[in-house]
Amino acid sequence: MIELKSVSKSFGNTQAVDQISFKVNEKENLVLLGTSGCGKTTTLKMINRLIEPDAGEIIINGKDITNQNPEILRRGIGYVMQNIGLFPHYNIAENIAVVPKLLKWDKEKTHQRIAELIEKLHLPNNCLKMFPHELSGGQQQRVGLARALVTDPAVLLMDEPFGALDNVTRSSIQAEFKALEELKRKTIVMVTHDVQEAFELADRICLMDKGEIIQIGTPKDLLYNPTNDFARKFLDGQRLALEFKVITLQDLWGFLPADQISNGEKPLDASSNIWNAMENIRSTSNGRIRVSNTNKEQKSVDFQQLTQAFNQYKYNHHHE
Ligand SMILES: Nc1ncnc2c1ncn2[C@@H]1O[C@H](COP(=O)(O)OP(=O)(O)OP(=O)(O)O)[C@@H](O)[C@H]1O
Ligand SMILES: [Mg+2]
Repeated sequence: MIELKSVSKSFGNTQAVDQISFKVNEKENLVLLGTSGCGKTTTLKMINRLIEPDAGEIIINGKDITNQNPEILRRGIGYVMQNIGLFPHYNIAENIAVVPKLLKWDKEKTHQRIAELIEKLHLPNNCLKMFPHELSGGQQQRVGLARALVTDPAVLLMDEPFGALDNVTRSSIQAEFKALEELKRKTIVMVTHDVQEAFELADRICLMDKGEIIQIGTPKDLLYNPTNDFARKFLDGQRLALEFKVITLQDLWGFLPADQISNGEKPLDASSNIWNAMENIRSTSNGRIRVSNTNKEQKSVDFQQLTQAFNQYKYNHHHE
């Protein structure tokens, strides 16, 4: 769906992006991950021509984007800016309606679509007439997302969309983000410098350093098959938490005890990761949850059994 071929960009003596190439599949979420200044924003902005590359090709849907009118190109691409970027003197409704207005949508259509997004993104109903400074950081970020989604573009570019948030708000918005049907049918390139966030949301991660790509792969690839020391060190210190995110209950299934105590609650799907299972266990009164896999088998686990299964899985993994 999106392809970059040997794309480069420099600003004066700074080589911001150095011959990078990658493909993003339809409906995939590719996360650009790397430290400050490694070229993430520059890469993202070249995809919607807010920045023109010095060299290389960018192809979207089989067409070279340099042959397209930038305004028309951008209408098909939602863009969530780093640091939100709402217009301070526009109210929330006006902020969301910027592109519909350019496209001369009629008032009723715009109004309906905004109402739908307000509900989906859990924004308060009375926020439409308010101004950005009257909303919390998390709410402003949701407005930024609403603005990018309003015309339902097939491609979404997101630059640190949850960057301004505290950890608690951040993980709850991440969870909502993952659950949004509207986002599941989009091809997304998302930027972050947060490893946990990349592991939580990415189908594949593109790890960058100094304008170059170090490794592209699934979170599991990066964790278990790092290409070099840089990739290995980038994840060090968070290894356990990241394993909790990439390993699912299904991976552990054989190590979970076979008992089936039912507490009448809806079972957790085995495609859930360990992190998720722990959160669920924590919120029960008896410290035990039921889980079910694709074969409709059910098991019941507590915290200790889960950690035990995890350790056995890891032991086997190392001794394969
Ligand atoms: N308009 C510009 N003029 C000059 N230098 C620039 C410009 N934009 C970016 N750069 C430089 O290019 C490099 C890459 O910048 P970029 O914004 O792409 O980094 P980033 O990975 O998004 O960083 P951050 O995580 O801090 O947002 C940096 O060294 C930056 O200083
Ligand atoms: Mg940036």
